[in-house]
Amino acid sequence: MKTEDKLPQKFKENMQKLLGSEYSAYIESFDKPIYKGIRINTSKVTNWEAISPFAEMEAVPWCAEGRYYADERPAKHPYYAAGLYYIQEPSAMAVAALLPIEKDDRVLDLCAAPGGKSTQVVAKLGPKGVLVANDISFSRARTLEKNLEGFGAKNTMIVSEDPKKLAKLWANYFDKIIIDAPCSGEGMFRKDEKAIKSWENFEIDHFCQIQTEILESAAKMLKTGGMMVYSTCTFATAENESCIEQFLETHADFESVAVEIKNGLSDGFGNIGAVRLWPHKIKGEGHFVCLLIKKLGNNVFDKYIKLSKRIKDYPEANLFFKENTSIDLDEYVVKNNNSLYLVSANMPANEKIRTLRSGLYLGDIKSGKFIPSHALAIAYDKSVFKNTINYQSADIEVTKYLKGETLFADVRNGYYVICVDNFPIGWAKAVNGILKNKYPASRAVL
Ligand SMILES: C[S@@+](CC[C@H](N)C(=O)[O-])C[C@H]1O[C@@H](n2cnc3c(N)ncnc32)[C@H](O)[C@@H]1O
Repeated sequence: MKTEDKLPQKFKENMQKLLGSEYSAYIESFDKPIYKGIRINTSKVTNWEAISPFAEMEAVPWCAEGRYYADERPAKHPYYAAGLYYIQEPSAMAVAALLPIEKDDRVLDLCAAPGGKSTQVVAKLGPKGVLVANDISFSRARTLEKNLEGFGAKNTMIVSEDPKKLAKLWANYFDKIIIDAPCSGEGMFRKDEKAIKSWENFEIDHFCQIQTEILESAAKMLKTGGMMVYSTCTFATAENESCIEQFLETHADFESVAVEIKNGLSDGFGNIGAVRLWPHKIKGEGHFVCLLIKKLGNNVFDKYIKLSKRIKDYPEANLFFKENTSIDLDEYVVKNNNSLYLVSANMPANEKIRTLRSGLYLGDIKSGKFIPSHALAIAYDKSVFKNTINYQSADIEVTKYLKGETLFADVRNGYYVICVDNFPIGWAKAVNGILKNKYPASRAVL
């Protein structure tokens, strides 16, 4: 069956109205390839081209860290396990790329799972910045947690709540907010036939209502002078320009910020300065992006997370860090059950919030001993770990390690960070020449 015949009749009529003479080019885009991308983790890699194991990669025009790939399998390469890149649909990279994130910002990603935009934010934040990543779905928030951990995220709180609840507690806290809204998904039809089925099961109004509610909550949580980006992967104006126009009509404290039209981006409809990414014009799927700024309001916020303990208050962990690392743990440490987290004092209070993680998961205290977490190995550079074992990426030992197999090495007993081309990928514990594999089974991809 021709792809056009698989598209719902009502959708085709809507697109004809929206695109006019461009409609046939849009339909022809279904015969173009599906473009795939990776986004480089610039907090770990400064010159990707110098280390890239893949064939020459074309740059994604609207995202400096984005690259297209074709036949490679980037999820299988050990650099993925090292968190050197995130696999992301190229158009989706535009959203966080257009939000001017500063290194000390407090950023909220309200609809964050599986983590495309959140990982993009993490790479831009410095040690004083904070990312709060939320997804209403707890199971999706678990995937978000795994992906952020795999990217080496540090000052990150991962929560799973209705944005309305967050807005009651966190008014005026954030410098930047990302709303990558749930939507009817029309922009993904080329790539994913399931999106077509799902479109038929929901009315666009269903999404408009959720989008309006999420915008309402986000507006409360943004500081004056703060910016938010609203995006969808759908074409319907009701979920895009019209949704934002309505928001602006009822929020005199907000203005839209015009996005510069370059690098393949197209003007949105109306005059809110939004942009569209069209699959018939660029190498990527369909997206809508709009920037908003809060011009008026107050910035009163005083509900910070309550912290009192430091690493020295946990002797087993303190000893581990002294013996095995040169990491200066100058932030607070929170113990939750037996797990320790490194938490920055400028995170918001989260007592009544369903929290998967606040801060960096350092490890667990078990039977009087500290067991380091996988997240800890990925969050830091090799240079801070005293005991490391480095392999070249093509070494068979790397494949064995990532499959969870036991390795052997003539080293003294203790914990070792296993590295690939000097990038940490996880822990092993040496006992009499045997390296017990501590790579999480849930991550094995080889
Ligand atoms: C388009 S996806 C987000 C993709 C993600 N930003 C990324 O880049 O990987 C939309 C997400 O919104 C979540 N969601 C749906 N309704 C929500 C709500 N009311 N509040 C917060 N998140 C919601 C869904 O669970 C879904 O994970």
